[in-house]
Amino acid sequence: MTTTEIMADLAVNGGTIVTPDAQYEASIAIKDGKILAIGEQDAMPAAQETLDATGLHILPGAIDVHVHFRDPGYPQKEDFASGTAAAAFGGVTTVFDMPNTLPAIADAKSLAEKHAIAGAKAHVDYGLYAVLGEDSLPNIGALIDAGVIGFKCYMGNTFGRIPSPTTGAMLELFEIVAPTGKRISLHAETNSIMERREARLRAMGRTDPLAHLAARPAVVATEAVARAAILAEWTGARIHILHISSTAELRPLAEAKARGVDITGETCPQYLLLSADDYEAKRGVIRVNPPVRETENQDPIWQALVDGTIDMIATDHAPHSIEEKTREDIWTVDCGFPGVETQMPLMLTEVARRQASLSDYVRWSAEKPAKCWGLYPTKGALMVGSDADLAIVDTNREWTIDDAKIQSTAKISPWHGMKATALPIHTIVRGRFAMKDRTLQDNAKGWGRSVHAIQEMPTPDVRHADQTMAAVTAPRKG
Ligand code: NCD
Ligand code: ZN
Repeated sequence: MTTTEIMADLAVNGGTIVTPDAQYEASIAIKDGKILAIGEQDAMPAAQETLDATGLHILPGAIDVHVHFRDPGYPQKEDFASGTAAAAFGGVTTVFDMPNTLPAIADAKSLAEKHAIAGAKAHVDYGLYAVLGEDSLPNIGALIDAGVIGFKCYMGNTFGRIPSPTTGAMLELFEIVAPTGKRISLHAETNSIMERREARLRAMGRTDPLAHLAARPAVVATEAVARAAILAEWTGARIHILHISSTAELRPLAEAKARGVDITGETCPQYLLLSADDYEAKRGVIRVNPPVRETENQDPIWQALVDGTIDMIATDHAPHSIEEKTREDIWTVDCGFPGVETQMPLMLTEVARRQASLSDYVRWSAEKPAKCWGLYPTKGALMVGSDADLAIVDTNREWTIDDAKIQSTAKISPWHGMKATALPIHTIVRGRFAMKDRTLQDNAKGWGRSVHAIQEMPTPDVRHADQTMAAVTAPRKG
């Protein structure tokens, strides 16, 4: 049978396809959740359903490798249904959910429970992270068997109070994960530095928003990035630096890359679009870890994204309630804010303003995340055979972000009132509309599935295996 005799489920016609290398007008035919054909409309197979995408851009759905959906534990902040609905409205077709829920995801049982929750509620595909800490050290194999996308290591304390491992424990944890090939994502802020500074600032009576930044200068993050990179180089573990917030972190990141360490990095819209000047007006609403910093960090972070030193854009979507974000004393304000829904509009607006290309954006938002976690080209690509994960976007639409109208349960963010020039109109996950004409599709709930099953990481390059904790403590022969 030739392709023209096969009936597609859906054909998307008239749109402009954006890939990391090119933009071109073509139709996409979708069958059984996969891209069946891409080409001239006349040459496409017949389809049960058609969508007219004339005037719109078709991007691979974004993969946000850093969201906190709070489920189980804090449904009043967000749950897997509201969080993935927000993703769908933001053109995001895959999310990686962080393990600082209640319970924290640190053993196979808690992971299985979260898989059940996500499987029942998710509107988009997902990967689940597990905690890499002293408590989860004995559980790493069982966690992998139960289906994780990767591990999250908290080098600094944050929401959920997951204790940060000592450097000694981190080395042992890296030794254990290295041969598995899984990537370790790091919240790279050194706890002992910021705890000490926060204690001193609090003792002085500081409660103002800028005291949060004073407790966490860029050296807090830079020292952590450098230390993690050394442990990764020694063990051969793959690592990912979450939420890069400062110019200073770029040097250890670039140096480690140059030395052949499998290290990747993300930044988030808040580090490109917000600055220390915003604390006065936005107060606790912009309190996040790592903190929003001085304006001079913005351009170097942008440049690092353009030149590939920073690999990707994620959001650290971290929803909290209005009450939790508007407390007077900055130390009592919960850290983080929603972002999964507004990343694509804000970043496409920034791409236009800074004259980057839509192809650059697709590399940061979809291709790189898929490649770094072994999901490419099933995810992160618009190619025949890829999953039909599409963000269909109007890149010429002026609108103003309104917290009251976002899907996320958390109706408070620093993005409120910001103007954007792009808006996702339809989001398709494995061939099914999650959002259509800015409306959530009822039959999408529960359609999302875990991507760990399709993950294929390249063979790891383990180093110093003869000097690991396990090796040196093994019973001696003879
Ligand atoms: C995150 C949260 O609220 O879960 N908060 C934050 O400020 N980024 C935790 C985190 O990723 O650090
Ligand atoms: Zn973090």
